Amino acid sequence: MRTKTIVPLATLVALFAFTACGGGGDDKPSGPPGASGSAPAADAGKSKAKMFTAADITLGDIDLGMVDKGQNIYDVKCQACHSLGKNRVVGPGFKGIMENRRPEWVMNMILNIDVMLETDEEAQRLLEECLVRMPNQGLSKDEGRNVLEFLRTL
Ligand code: HEC
Repeated sequence: MRTKTIVPLATLVALFAFTACGGGGDDKPSGPPGASGSAPAADAGKSKAKMFTAADITLGDIDLGMVDKGQNIYDVKCQACHSLGKNRVVGPGFKGIMENRRPEWVMNMILNIDVMLETDEEAQRLLEECLVRMPNQGLSKDEGRNVLEFLRTL
């Protein structure tokens, strides 16, 4: 019977889809939190991107005005790929992200994704799981910072 070979193939495809990108409901990344090593060098890659370091970001009390702006940006530019829960859509869900990641690492993912995918091991690990490169969303530094503030509330 010819149809016999089709069944295992379909099963494989289904299995693969299910286990991609962290395997469904996994809330915590299995790797080390944030960029495991030091922050990427400012001159990393050929890009002129300015990489953020811990000294660039101060987190005070949550600023609700910034949260609001950040949420609007999320709705327009991130929602298609990132849920606010723990579940993956195209990229990982955002819930609890600031508990697991360093702020400067998150800022670099938001604003300097290309350099991160070239140089940062944790970003590369996410790419291996998700199989899609996050496109640069072209945000300004202030917009990125507002999104970061929004992520702090999740
Ligand atoms: C086309 C889909 C897509 C869009 C749109 C997108 N991302 Fe991503 N994002 C990804 C993928 C996929 C990854 C995992 C890394 C990779 O594969 O490039 C990721 C990873 C991330 C991470 C790291 C997640 C973690 O769990 O550590 C952050 C932070 C992030 N994105 C922020 C954003 C923000 C903020 C926006 C909107 C301004 C955005 N992304 C828009 C696909 C997307």
